[in-house]
Amino acid sequence: MEKIVIAGGNRLEGEIKVNGAKNAVLPILAATILNGGRNIIHNCPDLKDVSASLQILAYIGCKVERQGTTIIVDSSNIKDYHIPEHLMREMRSSVIFLGSIISRCRKAVLSYPGGCEIGPRPIDLHLKSLRQLQIKINEAHGYIYCDANKIEANDINLNFPSVGATENLMLAAVMAEGTTIVRNVAKEPEIIDLQDYLNAMGAKISGAGTSVIKIEGVSKLHDVEHTVIPDRIVASTYLSAAAITGGDIKITNVNAEHIQAVLAAFKECGCKIYIEEDSIALSRTSKLQPVDVIRTLPHPGFPTDMQAPMMSVLTLANGTSIISETIFENRFKHVEELMRMGADIMVDGRVAVIRGVPKLTGASVNAMDLRGGAALVIAGLAAEGMTTIECIHHIDRGYEKIEEKLRTLGADIKRVN
Ligand code: UD1
Repeated sequence: MEKIVIAGGNRLEGEIKVNGAKNAVLPILAATILNGGRNIIHNCPDLKDVSASLQILAYIGCKVERQGTTIIVDSSNIKDYHIPEHLMREMRSSVIFLGSIISRCRKAVLSYPGGCEIGPRPIDLHLKSLRQLQIKINEAHGYIYCDANKIEANDINLNFPSVGATENLMLAAVMAEGTTIVRNVAKEPEIIDLQDYLNAMGAKISGAGTSVIKIEGVSKLHDVEHTVIPDRIVASTYLSAAAITGGDIKITNVNAEHIQAVLAAFKECGCKIYIEEDSIALSRTSKLQPVDVIRTLPHPGFPTDMQAPMMSVLTLANGTSIISETIFENRFKHVEELMRMGADIMVDGRVAVIRGVPKLTGASVNAMDLRGGAALVIAGLAAEGMTTIECIHHIDRGYEKIEEKLRTLGADIKRVN
């Protein structure tokens, strides 16, 4: 089993480029099924979830090709509308294929995606809203069976602005009869990227980035070429590495507008932020300051995916900070591991109280989930002595060669067997 080993204490300096966004490319790969043609997608990250999506596409009959960071999908000949369990379980967000397969094939059979390390991931909102497009859905024996003679537009209100449910609805309604209005949708930048992708293939969607999306059904879609947006969570994670080590780094291929809530938190911690057109620099020379309260919220609030890396930074602040996790119910698994490294954190339900300590000490810890694992890397960079992180396959799901990127910034970090 591979591990990451870090000798902490180096101040990070330098410049790195951020890859394309995992959470943008996954729904876009699902969308490639829709046009029955050629899809050229640039700036794709090299991650396990992306390979899992490509495996699903190949299984149902798409021709898939990868040239560096460009992926080409030809969806002319779809021969199956069924995704078997072993492929569905590879990737937590595989349920996103439901919307595009039903839209293209008018039938879809998918194995239930199952639970997740950050708590149960129900898909009730996905299924409820897809049913409102007159899609018949039956759940039996761990599978979801969908059938639709025709998909009819409707006015739909989401109970919660779920990212995945919003994306599934956009994919399912693209070729519906009539105009679908969806209210209380997710406003994440990845939703805008999906809208841009679909519109570039001939869809008529507007409103992404606001809480109401309008989807005018079209009868035909065409070939498309698109560049995926930068990964705002990866960018924010590397900024955390500079913040915790009192470093000075610049990250390029990033959109500062996507991470304003995170940048505000770094500023509250005493970091200086410099924004240019497609780059952000962060430097910290003074003591880390605590934050009053960080509440994870749907975009443009503080992203739940940055809760864990930010917590690592706050463990070394000059006072007490509070983090309230309002999105996922089981997303504090990194706390126990951070405490092994000397952090002083108390969790009560969905609230964590982080009392800053003068130093962290290297320890042997386990990555329990993707962002929690990244948080341990961040903590290890500042800890005294050696930190060994196991179960790093979680980290690899969201970060391309994290140790190489951090090494170029001066970290003493390596991957060992
Ligand atoms: C996406 C992101 C994930 C991020 C999350 C929240 C991808 C691939 N993943 O996940 O990185 O952490 O948004 O920003 O884009 N919920 C229900 N029923 C549903 C759907 C969701 O109760 O049918 C709940 C979830 O359990 C969770 C909350 O709604 O508590 C948010 O989930 P959602 O926005 O759907 O997240 P994902 O799309 O799964």
